[in-house]
Amino acid sequence: MTRNYTFYTAAFLLALVFTGCGQKAPVYSNHPDIPAKVETLLAKMTLEEKVGQMNQYNGFYDATGPLPEEGDARHKLEHLRNGWVGSVLNVRGAKATRELQRIAVEETRLGIPLIFGLDVIHGHKTLAPVPLGEAASWDMQAIEKSARMAAVEATAVGQNWTFAPMVDITRDARWGRVMEGAGEDPFLGAHIGVARVKGFQGDDLAADNTMAACAKHFAGYGFSESGRDYNTVDVGTSTLYNVILPPFLATVEADVKTVMNSFNTLNGIPATGSAFLQRTILKERWGFKGFVVSDWGSGREMIPHGYAMDLNHAAELAANAGSDMDMESYAYVKHLVALVQAGKVKEEIINDAVRRILTVKFELGLFDDPYRYCSEDREKKWLYHPEHQQVALDVAKKSIVLLKNDAQMLPLNRAQNIAVIGALANDKTSPLGSWRIGSDDGTAISVLEGLDALGVPYAFARGPELVTGPLAFSTELEFNTTDKTGMKAAVALAKKAKTVVMVLGEHGLQTGEGRSRTDLGLPGLQQELLEQVYAVNPNIVLVLMNGRPLAIPWADEHLPAILETWHLGSQSGHAIAQTLYGLNNPSGKLPMSFPRNVGQCPIYYNHLNTGRPGPGTDVFWSHYMDVPNSPLYPFGYGLSYASFAYANLSVAVKEDGTVDVSVQVTNESEVAGAEVTQLYLHDRVASVARPVRELKGFSKNHFNPGESKTVSFRLTHKELGFFDNNGTFIMEPGTFDVMVGTSSQEGLSATFDVK
Ligand code: BGC
Repeated sequence: MTRNYTFYTAAFLLALVFTGCGQKAPVYSNHPDIPAKVETLLAKMTLEEKVGQMNQYNGFYDATGPLPEEGDARHKLEHLRNGWVGSVLNVRGAKATRELQRIAVEETRLGIPLIFGLDVIHGHKTLAPVPLGEAASWDMQAIEKSARMAAVEATAVGQNWTFAPMVDITRDARWGRVMEGAGEDPFLGAHIGVARVKGFQGDDLAADNTMAACAKHFAGYGFSESGRDYNTVDVGTSTLYNVILPPFLATVEADVKTVMNSFNTLNGIPATGSAFLQRTILKERWGFKGFVVSDWGSGREMIPHGYAMDLNHAAELAANAGSDMDMESYAYVKHLVALVQAGKVKEEIINDAVRRILTVKFELGLFDDPYRYCSEDREKKWLYHPEHQQVALDVAKKSIVLLKNDAQMLPLNRAQNIAVIGALANDKTSPLGSWRIGSDDGTAISVLEGLDALGVPYAFARGPELVTGPLAFSTELEFNTTDKTGMKAAVALAKKAKTVVMVLGEHGLQTGEGRSRTDLGLPGLQQELLEQVYAVNPNIVLVLMNGRPLAIPWADEHLPAILETWHLGSQSGHAIAQTLYGLNNPSGKLPMSFPRNVGQCPIYYNHLNTGRPGPGTDVFWSHYMDVPNSPLYPFGYGLSYASFAYANLSVAVKEDGTVDVSVQVTNESEVAGAEVTQLYLHDRVASVARPVRELKGFSKNHFNPGESKTVSFRLTHKELGFFDNNGTFIMEPGTFDVMVGTSSQEGLSATFDVK
């Protein structure tokens, strides 16, 4: 039996829709019919059913966090049949989602369909690079396409809501979740967040291959103290308004359908219980129309935070603060009905949350066809589709960053016999990276397979193992620090070779949630292996695989060539091999600074100047005794096999206050390549001190050998202004420095005044 939905579409006069208090019902959709349909349905719902829509359970399959005691499948199914579940996460496959949807639609009183959430972070089966890696492409089209590909695959297996993009700005490489974001810059991060939202949501949310996106984690999660996951966040207002919030605002302006709050406290208040964040900023100031989902159990976690007395109190605080859906805390389902009856939570708050949730369900087309996302035919067709492999390969190639290339060691000569060393070189799982719930182990193209596909001659020595023990998303990794089997053979092979390609870095499961580190060097025995090989053959190309900035001062000092390849996803090995041999010219630029050592963290280019910027002749200036203040590789940095020259910077301030900036970029080499031209601004004097430099424009262009192009930017009040400490956007007249160039540290500069 399938439910007939026609009653929802009965003609309705929206202007006459009023809530019980005699006020006009808020309208959360621009679609002409949806608000009326939402009101009709809402009017039929009992309080229990309304609260049910605000309850999200983890599915009965894989958990991505600790399960509460009550989380057994039987209990959940019973709740589902009672109409007490609005959404489920982590249910995999067209068949499984169809079955749960059938229960929701056919066995509950009102038959309201479920919305299925999943962490589709950088692909579903076919994987693109981890988001931090993809951010290094600075290519918004490629990033949007990659999210589109992810949506096509995930929606074929029943998912219609992804918990992505993570738009947390991150300045501290110790935090494992830096792999999931777009790095340290709010301007780049906002653009990337928007590209991802567009890719997931497409032009028509009701299409069977688009899904609702979720900007997370609102807010401040990227600033956990000392890079330790789930830790306290204490940030000032200027950083909050100018660094943390802008990417969220941009995704809200791009119509992101949902926002996830976060685990952390922000200045003493847990984000889940923060009315300031969720009501004042997000819903009132920004006019966000979608709904807020809590992070996993973050309602319940307000108890250990010392903010809620018990789960009942947590439910009251979270609902009143504007957290519309409770992910796996059991707080709402257990307590919200009684809290409304006791007058502690107004029913209008519940109505508001339910309107938001139902609106997204209507917009997804779930009421027209609740099974539209569960199609075994599409599942067969799209998973690992060859077109998707091409999308993944394209963005993987664009994400690689050339960090060092002395004496043009790269690209390699095809005729030359090389030694390839390192356990990661023939690993088919680690390059898939972290956060890949839908994917299958062993499906990445390894570096060796990439070399095989090119038919180049090489010999391989694995060296010592990197990890020992089981590999799992929810357990700690164990590194091999004692068993040196394979070390001698690797050194012997290196001795005979002209060039050595060493594939080293982090294991794919070493980054992501719960994976903070205090040492940013090469884990396990890899540094020792590198130094032993170097002792017999210094002609080393280091291929780095990692999900966060690493501190590699020794490698930078000693090795002639370093290629940053992140965890590049399914097509990893092809992208790397093609880059090593010059079939792909690297064009990525770092989205996050690489520190010289962990003691510099958090390190970021857009810092304030301080009162003692130095350099001074005595010790009394802001510096370290042992390393320079600068990072090893700065934000925006990345080399190419081509070489680009910058000339003729021109700046024109117009009558209306807009500023036109242009520069001539020339490819002075004999190979084609792409260059990301970056524009940075510095507001010299302001009522709130401004950073020494802030990215305010970028443009990635392809250049043929010898080709010259004029790259232009227009700056408006949006780029020239900033948020004051009340969160008001202001534009102050004054003197600005502009720098346009190839990284955050290198370019042509000029100064202009804005009246
Ligand atoms: C993470 C979220 C994720 C959620 C659901 C949490 O532990 O912080 O980012 O979306 O789990 O898997």
